[in-house]
Amino acid sequence: MTADAPILFFDSGVGGLSVLADARRQLPTASIVYAADSAGFPYGTKPEAELAARVPALLGRLVERYHPRLVVIACNTASTIALAHVRAALDLPVVGTVPAIKPAAEQSRTRVIGVLGTEATVRQPYVDDLSARFAADCEVLRHGSAELVRLGEAKIAGERIDPAAISAAVQPLAERRDMDMVVLACTHFPLLGEELRAALPHAAQVDGAAGIARRIAHLTSRQPWPVQPSGGIAVFTGNPPSLPLQAALGDYGLSRIERL
Ligand code: DGL
Repeated sequence: MTADAPILFFDSGVGGLSVLADARRQLPTASIVYAADSAGFPYGTKPEAELAARVPALLGRLVERYHPRLVVIACNTASTIALAHVRAALDLPVVGTVPAIKPAAEQSRTRVIGVLGTEATVRQPYVDDLSARFAADCEVLRHGSAELVRLGEAKIAGERIDPAAISAAVQPLAERRDMDMVVLACTHFPLLGEELRAALPHAAQVDGAAGIARRIAHLTSRQPWPVQPSGGIAVFTGNPPSLPLQAALGDYGLSRIERL
C-alpha cells in the first residue's frame, strides 16, 4: 500500500464532516477523500431497497477511482440499511456509523433515552437489535426528522439557523423531561450540537464519532502515512458546492473539489 492511499468518508451530504473532524484529530497526516452523494440527498426519506442498491454501487465506483485503504460510511441511514451489502461488495475494511445506544444506556440515570435520527434510521431493525442488546431496561424514544438534516446542511453552508425551527423539529423529545440522554443518530446532527443543546437542555448528547475515530486509528495503526499530506478531496455526485460550502470544506482540510 502506498503512503498516500486515502481514507474514504461517505455520506449523503455534509453530515459525515462531523465524523471526519474527530478522525482528523486522531490522524492529522491521513490523506482524505470525502464523498457526498448530493445527487441522492436526502437519504432519510428514501425507501430501504433504493439505498441498499445505490450505496454499494456508488462506493464501488469511488473505490475504483480513489483506491482507498479504508472506507468509512459516515452516515447512520446508509450504515443501518446497507453496511452488510457494502462489506459483501468491497474487498477492503469498511467502518460503519451506528446509533450510539450502548454508551447512552451506560450513562443514563433515568433509564429514558432518545434516539434522534432520520425517519429511515429510527425504523430499522438494527435499532431494535441495539436497543434489545444494550438498553433492555431503558425506555427508548425514537424520533426521525428530515428537517434537522436540512438545517444541518444549511448551517454548514453559512445560513443562520432559527432556534424555533430546531425546537419544532424535536418537540416530541423536548416534552419528555425524564429523558436524560439523546443519541444523535444522524451524522448531520452533531453539526447542530449547540442548537440541539438549547432545545433539549435536559438531555446529554452522545454520538459515534469518537468511537469511529478510535476504530480507524486501530485499523490503520501499522500503516504508513505521508509526512506532509496534500489537501483532501471533496467529491460530489451532484451539483458543485456553493462558495460558502467550499469555504467550510476548506476548514475541514478539503481543498480540492471533484465531481463523480
Ligand atoms: N447523514 C445521514 C445520516 O447519518 C443522512 C442524512 C440524510 O441524507 O437524510 O443518517
